[in-house]
Amino acid sequence: MKITDYLGEKEIVSIATNKTIPKPIDIEWRLTWKCNAKCKMCSIWKFKSKNEFSTNLIKKKIRELKKIGTRKILFSGGEPLVRKDLPKIIAYCSKQGIISEMNTNGLLLSSRMCRLLVTAGLKKVNVSLDAPNEIHDEIRNVKGLFKKVILGLKNLRKIDKKKQIWININTVIMKQNYNSILKFLKLKEIVDFDSINFIPVKINTAWVKKLKKGNDSYWKEVAENMSDCVLSKKEEKRAKELIKKFKNKANLILVNEKEALIKPLKRCFAIFFHTVIQPSGDVVPCCYFSKKESVLGNIINQDFKSVWLGEKYVKFRDSLKNNNPSCVKCFRYSNLNKFVEELILDAET
Ligand SMILES: C[S@@+](CC[C@H](N)C(=O)[O-])C[C@H]1O[C@@H](n2cnc3c(N)ncnc32)[C@H](O)[C@@H]1O
Ligand code: SF4
Ligand code: SF4
Repeated sequence: MKITDYLGEKEIVSIATNKTIPKPIDIEWRLTWKCNAKCKMCSIWKFKSKNEFSTNLIKKKIRELKKIGTRKILFSGGEPLVRKDLPKIIAYCSKQGIISEMNTNGLLLSSRMCRLLVTAGLKKVNVSLDAPNEIHDEIRNVKGLFKKVILGLKNLRKIDKKKQIWININTVIMKQNYNSILKFLKLKEIVDFDSINFIPVKINTAWVKKLKKGNDSYWKEVAENMSDCVLSKKEEKRAKELIKKFKNKANLILVNEKEALIKPLKRCFAIFFHTVIQPSGDVVPCCYFSKKESVLGNIINQDFKSVWLGEKYVKFRDSLKNNNPSCVKCFRYSNLNKFVEELILDAET
């Protein structure tokens, strides 16, 4: 799904050039921190998930979001499928005319769940698959996960006869799997997916270094795992070459073609359309600004509109007019940002 599927080009230019008040058109909602995997490159499985939203509170907030212009919600986590009410939440979005997407590690993608998701009106699923073989199980620390994901995807295609759901594969590129990139060409022969997103592993190395030196065995484990994933400069170069080769050979949509080639970002426009809601109700501008000091409000005690248009948010958007150091290496929205930059240039000429 492209941004122009739910946002007009003129509208994009108008918002991005501050002519229209921004709308939270595209939301990532992390419903829970709970997770049934223990991935090497991720620390979420160590998070405590308390005070999650009830189904009714989520529905109330979906109505609020609809009122102020939300058109698409990506449900994520943690693992969103550990919340049994997810199909109900997606069905509610469909009823409100909001497009739903979901990230998942695929462990709970049973035939029954596929049926529920199709009926609920899900439009896109991003299934994590870090290698097209058992290396995936090692990365995710779940025995048999690779086979379960493949079975889940096959079931989904069988049940979703009209291909209502776009299947995207999310692959985090790291030390353990960068050599497997070309093997994904064969995967297409086994399971029918629509696109693949090669995501460069993102690790806060300063944080990991600090944890490794500390005495907390709980966090030391995460730190050890994470530092194992970081690519050397030489491996990173090789990974980029393999992605280029993959692109030339595959008859597939490569979601982050520009990200794969990593170009420095001029300015982030995502902050005018997009926001992230955490399981606690905290609102942060994107998944890379998620520390306490980046919280711009909380939708348990405030309505969403007052957070989105509030002073803190306005200040944050202003602070990003000039390059923010946190954004320099960000490729989360590089495709969208490049696209908006080109639209603005076109509109000016
Ligand atoms: C945090 S997960 C949540 C959804 C679900 N649990 C899953 O694994 O798909 C969302 C995406 O972030 C990716 N991810 C996890 N750790 C990452 C890291 N260090 N760098 C880049 N992407 C990462 C996951 O592989 C997944 O595609
Ligand atoms: S990447 Fe997803 S599945 Fe893996 S630990 Fe993080 S939240 Fe869980
Ligand atoms: S970190 Fe990335 S997505 Fe977040 S505001 Fe900066 S450029 Fe945008």
